[in-house]
Amino acid sequence: MDYSAQLKTAEAAAREAGIFLKTNFFRSKEVASSSAHDLKLRLDTETQELIVARLRRDFPEYAVLGEEGSCGGDKNAPLWVIDPIDGTVNYFYGIPLYCVSIALSVNGSFVLGCVYDPMQDECFSACVGGSALLNGKAIRVSARTQMRDAVVFIGHGTHDKSGSAGVARFAHLSAQVKKIRILGTAALTLCYIAAGRFDAYVENRINLWDFAAARVILEAAGGSVEYTPSDAAPHSGAIIAWNGRIPIHQALQMP
Ligand code: IPD
Repeated sequence: MDYSAQLKTAEAAAREAGIFLKTNFFRSKEVASSSAHDLKLRLDTETQELIVARLRRDFPEYAVLGEEGSCGGDKNAPLWVIDPIDGTVNYFYGIPLYCVSIALSVNGSFVLGCVYDPMQDECFSACVGGSALLNGKAIRVSARTQMRDAVVFIGHGTHDKSGSAGVARFAHLSAQVKKIRILGTAALTLCYIAAGRFDAYVENRINLWDFAAARVILEAAGGSVEYTPSDAAPHSGAIIAWNGRIPIHQALQMP
């Protein structure tokens, strides 16, 4: 099945949303809700509305599952999975590391992903079975095989337990690798592994919309992703993503 028309629409929607976010980046932003380690902005909802309107123009019958709510389509319809701002905390604090993420699932399998970083004007995309692209050029994961050469992202999630698990992993892995990084955006992190900039990413609790699109891109670039759904909350789970070469599981084993 050819999903290039759907990918073209996803890219158009992600770029439109990205321009909207970049325009608002230096303005003051209204906080819709806030918790100990997370917050939501009115712009999260407004951006999702903009994305959904753009996707619906071309594919009115498709359903939507987004960080800011779900709508439309019957249960067998193809499903857009959207994160309007991945890296909301960064965005709010004026840290220019955030992105728009759009994936499409058909019959329960993800078939395409598009992740757009408006600050760098970097658009990562892939259809299952095709190449992973960055602004139209093919990308591949790094060739690194040794932990000592690796740059690894440790997620420090928004839930207390995932936060403390992240801290313990940070301590455990930092001695084994070249550098640990925490970007604050899961989708961009996976795309950075796809582009050979990072080598792995580990987080205890992440939402489907944070990584669905980037997973398609990373696997198309030769990387690997293991996702273990959580019983605690729907559409969330633990993730290990890597370039398919470094011995990440061995490195993660705690004494
Ligand atoms: C968050 C980011 C962050 C990850 C959190 C996510 P949001 O997404 O992806 O990197 O550590 O688990 O919730 O809330 O900014 O879309």
